[in-house]
Amino acid sequence: METNPPKRKETRKSLRIKVISMGNAEVGKSCIIKRYCEKRFVPKYLATIGIDYGVTKVQVRDREIKVNIFDMAGHPYFYEVRNEFYKDTQGVILVYDVGQKESFDALDAWLAEMKQELGPHGNMENIVFVVCANKIDCSKHRSVDESEGRLWAEGRGFLYFETSAQTGEGINEMFQPFYSAIIDLCDNGGKRPASSMGVGFTKEQADAIRRIRSSKDSWDMLGVKPGATRDEVNKAYRKLAVLLHPDKCVAPGSEDAFKAVVNARTALLKNIK
Ligand code: GTP
Ligand code: MG
Repeated sequence: METNPPKRKETRKSLRIKVISMGNAEVGKSCIIKRYCEKRFVPKYLATIGIDYGVTKVQVRDREIKVNIFDMAGHPYFYEVRNEFYKDTQGVILVYDVGQKESFDALDAWLAEMKQELGPHGNMENIVFVVCANKIDCSKHRSVDESEGRLWAEGRGFLYFETSAQTGEGINEMFQPFYSAIIDLCDNGGKRPASSMGVGFTKEQADAIRRIRSSKDSWDMLGVKPGATRDEVNKAYRKLAVLLHPDKCVAPGSEDAFKAVVNARTALLKNIK
């Protein structure tokens, strides 16, 4: 008699994870969390005092996960309260306001604060970071464009999403892959899976794009001294063109950077005999 083997029911343990929010005061951390958990938006600013804590259950793929969310206050005044909460974190929601360049520039300092609190044995490599470029509904006042934010995030192996806690745009789109990446990390023994490490562009390409964006004139853009010869300009141009050619480079902003380099070379060669 043929017997069917009993169907093995997948009894995976429900996961419990810890997520924290980080970023300057008033960028919208609490509102992003509220929009996702409570589907509502509060226009009035109510600063988080130290830490807000909440637990939520979410379903991701076939798994139910319990998420402990520690929503941190961004104000420097609360550093002494915040610093207790960095350890044992699997996921970080790193937020800036697209209309406030300082909040974008502060992202490095937030990573540094976390690294310092985790101490020499803390490992930031095995934490999932998602960067939220928030308040995209205020497009008139935008001062950090998408490619700049994406380059910063993806260059570090972080996820990147454009969000608005006010309209809800990008919020579910951000949380689902974020939780999914944390599950992959947990299933992989707490290590970031190799498949999520590659970003498709090099640090050299990312650095070149950033340098081109912040250059003050065409000489500076090509990285040659004012008064350089045609040969020097062409050599510098070729090096950048190979690095950033749109067929070869997928880094955010590479197309604009490539065009800018072409224009800089043309402008310089016009005036060099
Ligand atoms: P701290 O708790 O002080 O660190 O601030 P926070 O980052 O938690 O900011 P919070 O979520 O409290 O939002 C700050 C202000 O920005 C509030 O007035 C919100 O209503 C507003 N805000 C948050 N997200 C958005 C958004 O996407 N669009 C717009 N227009 N306003 C937003
Ligand atoms: Mg808050």
